Parts: sequence; structure tokens; C-alpha cells
Amino acid sequence: MERREFLAGALALGACSPVVPSHAQESVSSEGLAAHARRSGRYFGAAIKSRQLREDPDFTTAVARECDMVVQEYELKRGTTEPKPGKYDFSGADQIIAFAQDHGMRARGHALVWYAAQPKWLEPALKLANRGGREKLMTSYIDTAMDRYAGRIAEWDVVNEALEPNDGRADGMRQNSMWMQALGEDYIDIAFHRARNADPRATLFLTDFGLEHDSPRCERRRTAMLKLLDRLKARDVPIDAIGIQGHLKPFREGFNQAVFARFLDQLRGYGLTFSVTEFDVADRGGPPNPDKRDQQIASVAKAFLDVALDNPAMRSILCWGLSDRYSWLSNFPDYKWPDGQLSRGLPLDGDMRRKPLWDAIASAFDAAPAIGRRRA
Ligand code: G3I
Repeated sequence: MERREFLAGALALGACSPVVPSHAQESVSSEGLAAHARRSGRYFGAAIKSRQLREDPDFTTAVARECDMVVQEYELKRGTTEPKPGKYDFSGADQIIAFAQDHGMRARGHALVWYAAQPKWLEPALKLANRGGREKLMTSYIDTAMDRYAGRIAEWDVVNEALEPNDGRADGMRQNSMWMQALGEDYIDIAFHRARNADPRATLFLTDFGLEHDSPRCERRRTAMLKLLDRLKARDVPIDAIGIQGHLKPFREGFNQAVFARFLDQLRGYGLTFSVTEFDVADRGGPPNPDKRDQQIASVAKAFLDVALDNPAMRSILCWGLSDRYSWLSNFPDYKWPDGQLSRGLPLDGDMRRKPLWDAIASAFDAAPAIGRRRA
């Protein structure tokens, strides 16, 4: 396959060619983003919450139209599912997985081992346990969650956000993590071997953020990821794929297509596939005029996705939400608009209408070199 040459220069947001909305006058066509993805041999999906499925039919209809993959925004995190040791509540995740099955969608599981969103009882328990006990405190959740959803969740974020160069380690790993402190970096090896054993059919992901932009912050994180992969590869850790979260911040950091394309080629060199697992665009700092902001968001998204989807190892694109009505960006102190307006970082606006970002995603899939059969 002919690989496209990408712009080596930083993307000047204002200079981007506008993404022309193909739907502005049309009524909403039944063909959603998943249809565009499917033609390229890939999936498109979104993070959702069970409450949205129960209470918001407009949103649920939009998810069914636009997506063929879903992931739990928070309802498979251990802080939600195991509020007391050994006492589980998977009700929210069960509803999301039932919805996925009813609609023939692929499902992701997020996230088995993460430094955040853990139940309050866990860290004290880790501190009191011996080495074997600490391993068991981590692997018990991997076994329980993966046994429950074996055959229904096709891929898992086994370890999420293991990197943090700002923690000061030479290797750029996240030191301020209960898992790193309990087990050292081996926690990653133990987690992936246990996950492989729990469901050999599942695709196992190592997932992180801050891998996308042409900035010192992201360069340090990409370097740390590649060095970590060298170590994990040398230790035969069974990782199948990398989750690039894709939380873009174009009004704070530049984007250089050639830099990102090179990183994806480096990842592919490890024999890994990858997905963009939490795509959205933080628009704080963009033009106050929503239409202008939408155009610039769409332009950087297209530049990013053109690179992502040009790589044959890129298997799916998921947004972290589908509609601005529910984006985490609108509530997160660092990204929310002081005047309370919604962030506009997702393909549908707060009224479920498609935006230029929707067009950018659709046209990036349409322009992407198709890959073979979608992953089973
Ligand atoms: O639903 C409960 C509600 O019943 C309760 O009253 C309320 C008060 O505690 O909490 C509600 O749950 C909140 C949940 O979001 C649903 O809104 C949790 O407190 C809150 O911590 C949780 O935040 C999530 C956050 O991860 C932490 O888990 C965000 O929705 C979610 O968007 C965010 O997603 C992360 C990814 O997992 C990892 N990558 C970064 C991304 C954005 O931060």
C-alpha cells in the first residue's frame, strides 16, 4: 500500500482548509460513522454511561446509528464495581454490554489496572499485604471482570496510564501509582500474563495519553512509551495493542503529522496494533465563535485522523463520548468554559446534531487505505 506523505510542519490552525459539512442541509442520513469506518475495515465507537441508555432516547438512538463499538466511560472501573472487597456491582457495565450485544456492537473493557478510580479500601490493603497478597489484590479484579465478560468484551485496557515523566523517574514511568509502589514495574508483566490467562481470545491493550502532539510533554511521553515497550518486549509480556487515548489540545500544543506518523510506525515495529481509544478535542482557548471553533477543531481532527488511519495497524477510533451533551471536558476544571458553555470536542453537538468534526471523522475514514477483515 502506498503510504501517504504527511505535512512535516506544525499545523497552523487558522490556515487549515475548512472541512465542508456534507450534512448541513441534509436530514440525518441513517449511515453513521460506523459505516464509514467499516468500509475501511475498521470500527468507530464511543464511551457511554448506562444512565444515558436508560434516560436519554435521543442519545441512545444516536449511539445505535453512529457506532459499532462501545466502552464504559466509568462503569467497569474498580471504584465503581468493587466498592467493598469481594462485593461486586457490575450492573452499569452489564447494561452497556447488553446494549452492545443487542446492537451487534464490539465492546471494550476499561480499565483493569489503573492508578485512579480505585476503591478506597484497596490502597490500605496493598500496604498491609505481603508480595503475594499484593499481587492477588491486583489479579483478583482481572480474573473477576474478565471471567464475567469473556466472549462479550473483545478487548481490554489491561493497564491504563502507566507513564508519567512528571513524576521524575528517569524511565518516565508513573511513580505515584499504588501498583508501581506495591509491585514495581513488574505489575505490568503480572497484569498482562494474568489477563492472557483469564481470556486468551481477548485483545490486550496498554493505554496512555499525551502521545499525540508535537510538544516536549508528548515527546517525553512517546520516548517513555517506546522504552517501556523495549523492556516489556524483552520480558515477553503478552501485549497485543496500544491504546492512544487521543485527547487533543490543539489550542495549547501543536500537531505535526510527520512526528505522529513516525511514532505510529515505531509502535507497529513492535508487531503491535493500535486504536485511538478516547478521541476528543479540548476547545478551551479556541475562537469564541462556535462556528469558527468547530472548523478549527475539524481541521486538526482531520489532520490527526489522516495520519492515524493511514497506518494499517490502526484498527479502530473511539471518541470519549459521542455528544457534547455529556463530554467530560465540560466539567473538567482545566478544560471547561468559564461561562458554562458546552465544550464542542465531540462529533455531535448538545442537541445530537452532526458538526464539522463529524464530517472530518467520516472523510478521514473514507480517505483511509482499507485494511483487511475487521478484527474478530
Ligand atoms: O455516577 C456517580 C454518581 O452516582 C455519584 O453521585 C457521583 C458522586 O461521586 O459520582 C458519579 O460517578 C462519577 C462518574 O464519572 C460518572 O459521572 C465519578 O464520581 C467520577 O469520578 C467519574 O469520572 C470519570 C473519570 O474518568 C474517573 O473515572 C469520567 O466520567 C471519565 O470521563 C474519566 O475518563 C478518563 C478515562 O477513564 C481515562 N482517560 C482520561 C479520561 C478523562 O479523564
